[in-house]
Amino acid sequence: MKILSNIPLISVCIALSTLGQANTIDGDATRGQAASAVCTACHQADGSGMFMPGGESWPRLAGLDAAYIYKQLKDFNDGTRENASMAPFAAMLNDQQMRDVSVYYSEMPATPGKGGESADLEMLEWGKTLAIHGDWTRYIPSCQSCHGPDNLGAGQHFPAIAGQHSGYIEAQLTAWQENTRHNDPQHLMLAIAERLSPYDIQAVSAWLSLQPSQ
Ligand code: HEC
Ligand code: HEC
Repeated sequence: MKILSNIPLISVCIALSTLGQANTIDGDATRGQAASAVCTACHQADGSGMFMPGGESWPRLAGLDAAYIYKQLKDFNDGTRENASMAPFAAMLNDQQMRDVSVYYSEMPATPGKGGESADLEMLEWGKTLAIHGDWTRYIPSCQSCHGPDNLGAGQHFPAIAGQHSGYIEAQLTAWQENTRHNDPQHLMLAIAERLSPYDIQAVSAWLSLQPSQ
């Protein structure tokens, strides 16, 4: 049964990644910089976010795809994506400002991720296996089959996850498992997250956070 359910998953993935190539959204980086004044407390002036051990990590936005960022802001605003820290700030932006900040952050050079430094070698090896090869005995496709070569992102639908903070990656995978994040197209991420063990999540998040972000 599970094998069959993977076939549509992969074909949707391929369809979305070819659809997601041209993704210019109508925004202005200079106006975006002004609108981002309220964002820097958490996402920092260079868009690097922050890894907080044991706490809520703030994601890096620098270098993410503009259309992906814009979608997330819209999702926070219409309640499709829920987060108590982030929602009030998304609510401060009108549609044009959401486009402007998205272009602004997308044009920043991607900064390195943090949080994987304390993982042991065995854990990092396993994280690498999941990210690059997956685990077909448990019907888990590799992360890079959707998130692009080296997990640096593919088009507007598949965000870069290499060089993102480990605490943030872990939190998102756990949120999908607990159904507190459910804004992914076709529930593609839910299908992956629900097959991951707590050890898988820690391992893949640690390894990804240590990879080059560009
Ligand atoms: C109080 C801290 C805080 C401030 C200020 C803040 N954010 Fe966030 N932001 C967060 C947190 C925490 C998350 C992760 C939410 C989650 O786990 O779902 C987040 C997530 C995001 C995401 C999703 C990133 C991704 O990779 O999916 C975007 C986009 C974003 N913020 C943009 C902004 C913008 C633009 C502003 C300013 C208008 C802003 N944020 C202000 C804390 C903040
Ligand atoms: C079948 C395609 C597919 C596969 C395979 C996949 N992902 Fe995703 N992933 C997505 C999509 C689509 C999104 C964007 C969801 C959205 O638009 O909110 C996403 C988003 C994410 C995010 C949120 C990033 C952010 O900035 O908020 C993380 C973290 C993530 N994936 C981790 C992983 C990991 C780790 C793996 C491998 C174990 C993986 N993904 C495999 C499709 C996939």
